[in-house]
Amino acid sequence: MLKGEFISVYEDKSVFTVYKTFKLSERPQRAILKATAAGLYFAEVNGKRVGENYLAPGWTSYKKTLQVQQYDVTELLRNGENTVAFTVGEGWYKGDLTWDRKRRMYGEDAAVCADLVADDAVVLSTDGSFNARESVIRESGIYDGEVIDFTAPLHDLTVKIIDYNKAALVEQICEPVRVTERLPVKQIIRTPEGDLVYDFGQNVAGVVEVNTHDGFDGRIKLEFCEILVHGNFYNANLRTAKATDEICIKGKATVRPEFTFHGFRYVRISGAELPSDCVTALVMHTDMRRTGSIHSSNKRFDRLMQNVVWGQRGNFVDIPTDCPQRDERLGWTGDINAFCRTAAYNYDIRAFMKKWLNDLRNDQGENGGIPHMIPDFYRCNQLNSDCRHTDAMWSDCVTMVPRTLYEMYGDISFIADNYAAMKKFIAAREQTTENGLVCRGTEYGDWLALDNEQMVACDCIGRTDKYYITNVFFVNSLRIVAESARLLGKTAEAELYAKKYEKTLKLVRDEYFTKNGRLALDTVTAQVIALHFGIVEENHRNELAKQLNDNVVRHGYRMVTGFVGSPYLLFALADNGYFDTAVRVLMNNCYPSWLYEVDMGATTVWERWNSLMPDGTPNPDGMNSYNHYAYGSVMEFVYRRIAGIETVGAGFKKVRIAPRPIKGLPALEAEYNGIKVGYKYIDGDVKYAVTVPSGIYAEIVINGKTVATGSGEYKFSTQSENLDIPPYTPESTVIEVFDNPKAVEAFNEVFGGIFTGSEIAWMKAEPKTLGFMAEFRDSEGKMKLSDFPEMLDRANKLFAQKTEL
Ligand code: BGC
Repeated sequence: MLKGEFISVYEDKSVFTVYKTFKLSERPQRAILKATAAGLYFAEVNGKRVGENYLAPGWTSYKKTLQVQQYDVTELLRNGENTVAFTVGEGWYKGDLTWDRKRRMYGEDAAVCADLVADDAVVLSTDGSFNARESVIRESGIYDGEVIDFTAPLHDLTVKIIDYNKAALVEQICEPVRVTERLPVKQIIRTPEGDLVYDFGQNVAGVVEVNTHDGFDGRIKLEFCEILVHGNFYNANLRTAKATDEICIKGKATVRPEFTFHGFRYVRISGAELPSDCVTALVMHTDMRRTGSIHSSNKRFDRLMQNVVWGQRGNFVDIPTDCPQRDERLGWTGDINAFCRTAAYNYDIRAFMKKWLNDLRNDQGENGGIPHMIPDFYRCNQLNSDCRHTDAMWSDCVTMVPRTLYEMYGDISFIADNYAAMKKFIAAREQTTENGLVCRGTEYGDWLALDNEQMVACDCIGRTDKYYITNVFFVNSLRIVAESARLLGKTAEAELYAKKYEKTLKLVRDEYFTKNGRLALDTVTAQVIALHFGIVEENHRNELAKQLNDNVVRHGYRMVTGFVGSPYLLFALADNGYFDTAVRVLMNNCYPSWLYEVDMGATTVWERWNSLMPDGTPNPDGMNSYNHYAYGSVMEFVYRRIAGIETVGAGFKKVRIAPRPIKGLPALEAEYNGIKVGYKYIDGDVKYAVTVPSGIYAEIVINGKTVATGSGEYKFSTQSENLDIPPYTPESTVIEVFDNPKAVEAFNEVFGGIFTGSEIAWMKAEPKTLGFMAEFRDSEGKMKLSDFPEMLDRANKLFAQKTEL
């Protein structure tokens, strides 16, 4: 695919440049530069940077797949002498990875390989005749940032040729990483500690570009963070990632780093006091096509939806990562399993996921185990022989993610390409069973669930029995494999896996349900997954749904579920007769909840429900990312059950559109690939507007009745109770005030001392409503019930001011 050789340098350099000057007797009609690297690179032709992609060639399982980029460089070449240069950095190939700062995971030397093709003939290839020198980029690392020095002398280096298995070369599979948006500084802050901090108002992944003016002479240091604590710059949650860029410049320049990215909202700048128009955040991620959006008239809720989209943008930087800021940024499999369908509503992720699934297959263990992180750099380096697993949710990504993508896009290749890997994985999991049930192996359980108060300190995996979770996911994966076989026309295998599915399902029921059909585990997550994955017997479904509902109410509609329970919680409620409870959970103002994060100033979704404690300080247990998309999976529920845009069968050729307006969201507009659903509450009516593009057959269902079929534009109107309600109503619980710091301030200002006293404990525990509280205080003569509506109105207004975005 490339004639060139992989060239590096003998000297141990974090970054280097290789270049060659050559002659063209005439300017070509069409010239294509084809290039790739073991590491990261960018090319220059005659001093001009080629292309607008960053972090090329991206991150893949390099030994097996290495993407080659192509650039049209016709305009950059000229008659006579031309120079082509490549600057090469360590990137994921050779640079530090993980909290253990493992280096050289894929190889000892970063190297570049390229051909220049002019009018269909290769006119230049990388080889030993290239020259090499140091780069102005003196140091560079994904986690630590970049040191750029325009004043340093650039010494010559010595080119060496590297062996690389060219069988790994493939054309670029997915869209490249590009700068997709430029964000200006929103405000410059002088912090209480005296730092100069620039706030972009949004947590993003990317870099900062700085401009200097004529006469500038200095060293600018940029340090990045996601949050301020007590108004001060706080980057302890980045752990060992230094996330610092240093730029040494004389004179006027526009500079940005090349081989790093940061997860940040704020940048602390020292060494120069730059005006705000000289500092710009460049948002970087894989440049996918936007396909879906949700907007609503409720600003806090709207912010939540935008936070989810920003979370995707921050974590779709070439691979689906857990987070973009700390010393991880790794392709954790459970996180994308939770978020995949939301991601596929928001953006066209087909190519992005094809690339990643290719690596999942590349890195799957011979016995079928799935690494927790894809690409699996550990194994490539033979560092850790035990890194391929069979645990629930993380490893099940091999069945669930392709299935979700097939359902979203109707593209059978997602199933066909991954079917063999699915079967291998099942075989691996079978090795962890005894008498048919999984009882061994690494498990993350219900990761970060908050229901383990009773357990030993610092247990991240929640209270739900971890092997129960695995067995439920085992059943689900078996079902997916059986259905995949059927879709692929493999009848005998379909039968085989259907039998395994039936058998395991029965074993799970026998093990975890009493003989009268009661689930023997009482956690919310246990109940959720039994309902959602069809584990509970149909004749006991209603009972279990009721138990789940009671459980959620008992928890004050708060989030106690982790990575396993949370993505399915609202579905388990809504699809089993408790839509209103699902809505209360979704719209809950209490800590912990989705809107609590918004009220605490989140502009992306956090890793933990309590990554910021109500007092505004980071969770003391550590491991706090403010940009983790797993809990952003809630947006899928809004697309599918509130806007009600759902595919019937695979690929949205046939759709069911069943919007369900909810209290607190008086107006909503959602779109997916041209399908538009909007509703608006006006004076006792809900007005709907639905657009179905031609070629799609829709069944439109309002209030349980089919009102139209086909495609086209439709308008409907139905009578409705008032949806335009404030965050706090007489039905809100007392804890919804207590457990939201902004609400505490607002309500105390209006209601004074009525939120104190010994009765508060049981009012919180029961939990009692604000209406009850008002009646109670009225009976004590502490307030007049007749004043309550007006006071509540004032408290809501104050709350709105305090949560103003
Ligand atoms: C990551 C996750 C991941 C988890 C595995 C964390 O360090 O950030 O999101 O899924 O480990 O349990």
